[in-house]
Amino acid sequence: MSEREILVELNGVSRDCHLGKTVVPALVDVSLEIERGGFLIVSGLSGSGKSTLLNLIGCIDQPTRGSVLFDGNDVAKMTDRELSASRAQRLGFIFESFNLVPVLNAHENVDYPPAIEKCPEGRTSRPHRSDARSGRFAGSGSAPTG
Ligand SMILES: Nc1ncnc2c1ncn2[C@@H]1O[C@H](COP(=O)(O)OP(=O)(O)OP(=O)(O)O)[C@@H](O)[C@H]1O
Ligand SMILES: [Mg+2]
Repeated sequence: MSEREILVELNGVSRDCHLGKTVVPALVDVSLEIERGGFLIVSGLSGSGKSTLLNLIGCIDQPTRGSVLFDGNDVAKMTDRELSASRAQRLGFIFESFNLVPVLNAHENVDYPPAIEKCPEGRTSRPHRSDARSGRFAGSGSAPTG
């Protein structure tokens, strides 16, 4: 039997936010492990800390206390460049507000991250790899109806 492989590990993680002089405990003392290939659902009341937790797991935010390990690496000890590389190459994150670039169309928004990632420096255009994917949402005939 293969050994359990932990991809994400949180140890006693808390995240405080500041509203003026008030400290808001957005997340309090969370410990968990997510296995490689695992599937996890986080549910809870509004304000219970789900987005705060996902921001920490997604290497977007850092904990106030405790440690977040992504594939064995302590996120607090990773450089900005390493965090950017992890976010670009290893993490997929769908934001509640989508965070699309408003001046780009649907194809361009889909193509933008891989264009930055793979194009040689200074080159920003590439063929529309997104056609097949975004076409599903653009009434190309492949989208389900009814
Ligand atoms: N930047 C911030 N400044 C101040 N308070 C914050 C900040 N971010 C989160 N909080 C507070 O931390 C708590 C957890 O917020 P969070 O957004 O993580 O909850 P949530 O479970 O994702 O809620 P929802 O289901 O509404 O999306 C809430 O009380 C929220 O008001
Ligand atoms: Mg949320």
